[in-house]
Amino acid sequence: MEKRVYNFSPGPAVLPLPVLEEAQRDLLALPGTGISILEISHRSKAFDKIINQAEANLRTLLGIPDNYRVLFLQGGALLQFGMIPMNLLRGTGKKANYIVDGTWSKKAHDEAKTQGEVHVAWDGKPLNFNRVPKQSELNLVADAAYTYMTSNETIQGVQYATEPDAGDSPLICDSSSDFLSRPVDMKKYGMLFACAQKNAGPAGVTIVIMRDDLIARSPADLPSLVNYQVLAEGKSLLNTPPTFAIYIVKLVTDWLLNQIGGLDKMAELNRRKAMLLYDVIDRSNGFYQGHAEPASRSMMNVPFRLANPAHDEPFLKQAAERGLCELKGHRSVGGCRASIYNAMPIEGVQLLRDFMVEFCEKNQ
Ligand SMILES: Cc1ncc(COP(=O)(O)O)c(C=O)c1O
Repeated sequence: MEKRVYNFSPGPAVLPLPVLEEAQRDLLALPGTGISILEISHRSKAFDKIINQAEANLRTLLGIPDNYRVLFLQGGALLQFGMIPMNLLRGTGKKANYIVDGTWSKKAHDEAKTQGEVHVAWDGKPLNFNRVPKQSELNLVADAAYTYMTSNETIQGVQYATEPDAGDSPLICDSSSDFLSRPVDMKKYGMLFACAQKNAGPAGVTIVIMRDDLIARSPADLPSLVNYQVLAEGKSLLNTPPTFAIYIVKLVTDWLLNQIGGLDKMAELNRRKAMLLYDVIDRSNGFYQGHAEPASRSMMNVPFRLANPAHDEPFLKQAAERGLCELKGHRSVGGCRASIYNAMPIEGVQLLRDFMVEFCEKNQ
């Protein structure tokens, strides 16, 4: 079998090894069925059990109150950028607040503009998106249809320590790259969504958690597959769902509950991993330069530059030779980025830390 490396990709990203092993073991025949998960009907009892367990696990992990629905949708997080304003903004005569603190919230803002009136409550672009806003900096319009944020900007590596206060407007959060990485207080959100391919599973499914009163706002004239109310009534089974991706979400959430011990434990582990890297950056006398201001540093994505760009290529090459892969930064930020999602073992981060120290000593 091909040897596995440490995969620091921003997504699709590393999955927990026990999850891959279980999926591999059961790939030919799911226990009790004799049928592969790749062959099973989404209307079967066995799949019903899988999707219900995935939802139950998410409800337990995140403490999701009963007045929220959990939907398993397709189209990635990007489709949510359009569906949110289609369902909650278009035709309301209201504005939506958008906090623009990185590439993904900017994209969400641009999509929303096609559907209604959008108000930029804060724009981090002049700061090169190196931090999230302070509460006092937010310029929120009153009586907004909703307030939109991105809890973790995957490309710039900035993350909120706590959610902003959106006043009376429902807070909507793109949590794609820090979903299930720490506990959240769901009651503070009207809606929270995440594509699965970073922390929850493979590409193909997007998880939407939405309060009933927001679901009830969906206009009746929207096509069914972009209408939250119709999707919720259909219990995510309006058409054929991404069965395999949902099955892996079930296994990942089983792993979080049974092997990690919940989101408090996961958050603590994630913090320890991130600190290993920020510590090297801070002690390198400028050899490595982090992108984010310390108070906004992400526990999931650590973008950094080497002060001398000529070091980029040998750094990436030598890292890959040690099995530390996918460390190239996003083209818009440059340099390097280590994505250290839930499933990245601390041993991988320790190896990267050791390599960074050694590379700095040799090349300083
Ligand atoms: C924070 C965030 N939002 C949205 C997306 C887009 O997700 P998708 O490719 O599933 O549409 C990404 C993808 O990297 C992301 O990191």
